[in-house]
Amino acid sequence: MNATPSSNDLILQVEHLSMKFGGLVAIGDLSFQARRGEITALIGPNGAGKTTVFNCITGFYKPTEGMITLNRNDGSTYLLERLPNHEIPARAKVARTFQNIRLFSGMTLLENLLVAQHNKLMKASGYTLLGLFGFPSYRQASAESIELARHWLEKADLVDRADDPAGDLPYGAQRRLEIARAMCTGPELLCLDEPAAGLNPKESAALNELLMGIKSTGTSILLIEHDMSVVMQISDHVVVLEYGRKISDGNPASVRTDPRVIAAYLGVDDEEVETVLTEVGDEDVIEQLDTGPDSAHGPGNSASMMAGPVSDSVEHANEGERVTVSKGASKAAQVDARATSIASKPQSAAKSGTAKAAPDKPAAKAPAAKAGTASKGKDTAAKPTAGKRGGRK
Ligand SMILES: Nc1ncnc2c1ncn2[C@@H]1O[C@H](COP(=O)(O)OP(=O)(O)O)[C@@H](O)[C@H]1O
Ligand SMILES: [Mg+2]
Repeated sequence: MNATPSSNDLILQVEHLSMKFGGLVAIGDLSFQARRGEITALIGPNGAGKTTVFNCITGFYKPTEGMITLNRNDGSTYLLERLPNHEIPARAKVARTFQNIRLFSGMTLLENLLVAQHNKLMKASGYTLLGLFGFPSYRQASAESIELARHWLEKADLVDRADDPAGDLPYGAQRRLEIARAMCTGPELLCLDEPAAGLNPKESAALNELLMGIKSTGTSILLIEHDMSVVMQISDHVVVLEYGRKISDGNPASVRTDPRVIAAYLGVDDEEVETVLTEVGDEDVIEQLDTGPDSAHGPGNSASMMAGPVSDSVEHANEGERVTVSKGASKAAQVDARATSIASKPQSAAKSGTAKAAPDKPAAKAPAAKAGTASKGKDTAAKPTAGKRGGRK
């Protein structure tokens, strides 16, 4: 996962993406990559900016800044922030589902999947009435569409209900139908916004199976998910956001034990960070957190004390931009602040010796590895000419 992949291996490259709504920075200087044929999960607390990232990738929003490159399997490349949004599914082969189910509830399951193939059918009809009078290419396309719909109904374990109205399905089955519908458009990148939300464990397991089946066909998946059982079981790669900035990026095992992720994602208090770390068994991290800030460098032991008196700010690497949040809101920033304080204290390094020197420990502990800076530095090194670029035309 850590080897630098060539752009051939990458289906998606997001570089220096920013999205602002007035004064609110929903995404700040975000860079990450998704590899071809893998499941990449985008996780983070509510309001972290996950859906906004999807909206930028799928053309619902034009980003304020940044570059989103989609490398198709045939070698063609699309700059999604420049593509008209209706061309993103058809030309770049990106499909998505929404956080809230959007099905035609009065239509049958089969009809829902045929509507998704409307463009293909219209093209085959020559955009004329000939289709209705049995134009051969239309008949052929129509048969293929039904076959594709049947295929995905089977994969989603819904074929028995093909003629029922979609609105009659249980919630978990509706979620799978949405995914089947997206697959009927033949995507190379499938973006799923919280597909496991509200599912019971059985439905969640059925979803995992469907997603693994999709992955086995070679389709790459970008997954926003809160359900950690889904994320940890099926993801190859996890990117974690907090307040629109990336705080961790790696395989599920490394992200799971990253103290910034534990603090930010689980939303635990300062004191509870250590408890959670004990639970995940990262002793080196615990030892570092045990070493409180030097009194000469700060007013007290709590990392929150390092924030301003009234409110905190979350820094984006982007031109020193800051987002004001409620005091102590960014748990990841608190962990960073502690790590900075520890690293600036020479005797603490001597005390914990091997733990500090270990090069393979989570980068969160080194001040230079502050999430935004670290990701930007890495990306710049990998691609020196990749500059920021306005997303709007
Ligand atoms: N269209 C919009 N206009 C204004 N603010 C928005 C809009 N879309 C999202 N936001 C804000 O951007 C932030 C990130 O939202 P979102 O991407 O939906 O988060 P997530 O999906 O991680 O829960 C939130 O503060 C949200 O209120
Ligand atoms: Mg969302």
